Formats: sequence, structure tokens, C-alpha cells
Amino acid sequence: MSHLQVFPSEFRRLLDAVMAAANDFVETIDDRRTMPATSGQMTTAAFDRPAPEEGLGMAVLDDLEVITNHSRPGTGRLFPYVVGSGEPVAALGDLYASFLNQNLTAWRSAPAAVAIERTVVRWLAEAVGCSGFTGSLTSGGSLANLMGLAMAREAKAPANEDGAEACVAYASQEVHMSIPKALALLGVGRANLRLVPVDERFRIDVSALADAVAGDRNEGRRAIAIIASAGTTNTGAIDPLTDVAEAVWRWRGDHLMATRRAMGAKVGTGGSAGVAWLAKRANALIFPELWTARSRV
Ligand SMILES: Cc1ncc(COP(=O)(O)O)c(C=O)c1O
Repeated sequence: MSHLQVFPSEFRRLLDAVMAAANDFVETIDDRRTMPATSGQMTTAAFDRPAPEEGLGMAVLDDLEVITNHSRPGTGRLFPYVVGSGEPVAALGDLYASFLNQNLTAWRSAPAAVAIERTVVRWLAEAVGCSGFTGSLTSGGSLANLMGLAMAREAKAPANEDGAEACVAYASQEVHMSIPKALALLGVGRANLRLVPVDERFRIDVSALADAVAGDRNEGRRAIAIIASAGTTNTGAIDPLTDVAEAVWRWRGDHLMATRRAMGAKVGTGGSAGVAWLAKRANALIFPELWTARSRV
């Protein structure tokens, strides 16, 4: 018998034990410390070990408790960076998806997953008043921004074949760091992101934006994107989307994106209508990760 082989009966015991541990975690989550009582040295010592040469069998379960005790549980008292909702029912979906282990490159290798993605994208589009729009789900906001900016760059300053040409993009000083990172990865360069000042409510100053665009135009620089945020990371500020979109429309043709996060918090405050208005004129990247989080509060 191979040491890596797991017989069905043992697999069943492992499965039951993991589910029991997961259930215990969910049931006790609000009694747990929001910050584990550990130090960097203690955590490193807990996991720094040689790669095992043999299967561990049921002993592998001992690590579950150690991992749990060195993790930050999503209690109602946790105020960290953006976290997903940590919805236990969604975790079951994640587990099942891991069992199915699909290759998501194309419909032929994952028919159900591709159909589900299309459906969820349709739901999201409808939720922001953009029925009929298409898109794709990404692993997170950084990748979505990278994709959006890649599309903007290819539309305005194509680089896929012959390499990047000089071009510029615009965003407010409050924009998420994934935007300059994406521009660096795309060969546009961080220095070619114009960080436009904000008003007293941390929203992009549209007249300063207009000045920046006009200045670059006069210098003969090519604009590929104006990035408006519908809920900035630091304060949740919503840039004046319709004003920005109208300005872009007047300048004609520049791509425009809205990163929309904290959506549950924003629906009904004008953000939703702004995103729809904007998306019908340009590109919208939508971050729905906080919907369920909000609905649980
Ligand atoms: C507005 C915005 N854009 C992008 C990101 C990056 O998202 P991710 O961490 O999923 O890559 C975040 C994350 O907080 C964000 O708030």
C-alpha cells in the first residue's frame, strides 16, 4: 500500500472530522478572540517543519486546531481590511467546488461552471441596471483592474503585438493601490497615472481632472483611461460618477471605469444609478464582495 493512498473508509473519517471541526468553528466563532494570541515566532515555529515524506493519516487533523488558533476568525468584532462575508454556506460551495476540481479555461472543460459564471454576471449586470451586458468573474479586484486597464490600453494604445507606447491614465488621489500596480504591470508606468486631487469628501475634483486631461492633450499625450471609484477603499467615497462620465463623453472616446465595492452599503445612495449611467457609456468593474457581508449586519 502506498503511504499516500487513502482508502474510502479512512477518507470518510477524514471528511467527517473536517466537517465536525468546521461546524465547531462556525458555532463558536463569536466567542473567539479576534486576534490570535500568538507572535510571529510562535506561528513560524508551529508550521516550520520538513516536507513530510510519508502520508500522515488521521494525524493530519491535529494541524486543524493549530491552524485555527493562529487564524483571525471573522467575528462580529473583526474590523480588518476588506474581508469577504465568510458566509458558512458559501464555504460549503467552495468545498464542493474543490471536490469537482474543474478546469475553468473553457466551456468544454467546465460546462456547468461557465454557465453559472454567465448567469451570475447577468444577475450583477441587472442589479446595476445594465441588462444584457457581459463580463467575467475574476479572483479579485486587483485582477479585475488589471483586466480593465489592459482592455483600455489595447483600445487606445495597442501594445499586445509591438509593445507599449507612451500613454496616461487618471484617477483620484484616493484610488486603490491596485491601479498603479496594474499600470506598472501593463508597461504604462506608475508615473503616467495622474493622481487628481479630491474635494472635502474625498471625491475626485472633476475640474482638476479636466485640467489634467487638457494639459496632457496639449502636450500630445494619449489618454487610455479615467478611473472613477464607486466606494473608495479608505473612506467609501463615491466619485461624482455622472459628472466624470459626462466629462469623458465630452472628451470623446476615453475609456472610463468604475470600481464599485461596498455595494450593499451604497445601493440607494445614488451609487447604483451612477454606475449604470456610467457603464452604459464605458466599462464598469464591479466588486460585489461586500453584498452578503452587509446583509448579515
Ligand atoms: C476599490 C478596490 N479596488 C481593488 C481592490 C483590490 O482587490 P483584491 O484585494 O481583491 O485584489 C480593493 C480591495 O480592497 C478595493 O477596495
